Amino acid sequence: MENCEEKKTLGKEIMIGRTRFSSNVLMAPLAGYTCFPFRLMVKRLGAGSAYTEMVSADALKYNDRATSRLLFTDEREELKCVQLLGAIPAVFERAAKSERLAKFDVIDINMGCPVPNVVKSGEGCALMDDIGRASAIIEAVKRSGKTVSVKCRLGMNRKKIVIEEFARMCEGSGADMITIHGRTRDMMYDGEPLYEYIKLAKQAVSIPVFANGGIDSGEKALLTMEKTGADGIMLARYGFENPLIFPQLSGTKCSDTKYSLISEQLDIAGECYDELFVLTYIKKLASYFMKKLPGTKQKKQELFKCGSITQLKPLLWDIFGS
Ligand SMILES: Cc1cc2nc3c(=O)[nH]c(=O)nc-3n(C[C@H](O)[C@H](O)[C@H](O)COP(=O)(O)O)c2cc1C
Repeated sequence: MENCEEKKTLGKEIMIGRTRFSSNVLMAPLAGYTCFPFRLMVKRLGAGSAYTEMVSADALKYNDRATSRLLFTDEREELKCVQLLGAIPAVFERAAKSERLAKFDVIDINMGCPVPNVVKSGEGCALMDDIGRASAIIEAVKRSGKTVSVKCRLGMNRKKIVIEEFARMCEGSGADMITIHGRTRDMMYDGEPLYEYIKLAKQAVSIPVFANGGIDSGEKALLTMEKTGADGIMLARYGFENPLIFPQLSGTKCSDTKYSLISEQLDIAGECYDELFVLTYIKKLASYFMKKLPGTKQKKQELFKCGSITQLKPLLWDIFGS
């Protein structure tokens, strides 16, 4: 697949509430991965938006280092999108209106996280089982005046697929967009998404609906658009593994290679974070970049032994540069 020029379904700009997304191919929030340098990179490559990983709405009241790092951004990131996790409408409202989020244009509400501790606290995907509370949260965030999106799944399990009703509730409560991960909570991150339910939800509302889950090639991106009738797609794990999919899908001109991308990431991350964080991030990125490269077991071992950026640089050249 060369690009999406012929079908014109992907790479189109789209209005989400009053916010313009330059393309309808988006990058998902990924905890531990979608830090500021990564978001800058995918936006430059043609992603219409890229979200911070989930940030606890409640934790915003503390000035802790971990939350500050998650929220780090600067003027280079033109469209700033943050994702919040929580269960209490008043906590969301305080967070959404807080000075710490003043610079963010879009707030996404996590209603899809399947992790047991999160669900037990009534957060993430548990909100799909508590539609009144989910609605109150959307209304509370909306009172900040910002653009509000919701990221959810199909429901808790295959016997409890509620996405049509849930999508209607999101629209009625004021959400400007919904991203639907086409799996149920009990599917976690495996198995083929049930795209037909995304289609039903799309038909039930008039706000933009984005399809997410299992998109791991250009062909799959187009197929997902066809199967769901969605307004756009959100890439997650594959977007991290191969950011060059963004120019391919969005039609953005680019002469980057995996080596140029990772070198740039090393430089930007080096400006923003301490060495330990940079090492951890670049190692994760490099091992995802190597995922489908054959015979890289030894290189991966060398990568994980690297104890400094000085050691890392020649290894990255060895793996991706030559
Ligand atoms: C390691 C990891 C971290 C994730 N973190 C988040 C998160 O912070 N917020 C969120 O809404 N979804 C999160 N997700 C879910 C993804 O955004 C996405 O919905 C899911 O991976 C399905 O898309 P995919 O099959 O294309 O990867 C995470 C998924 C993974 C694998």
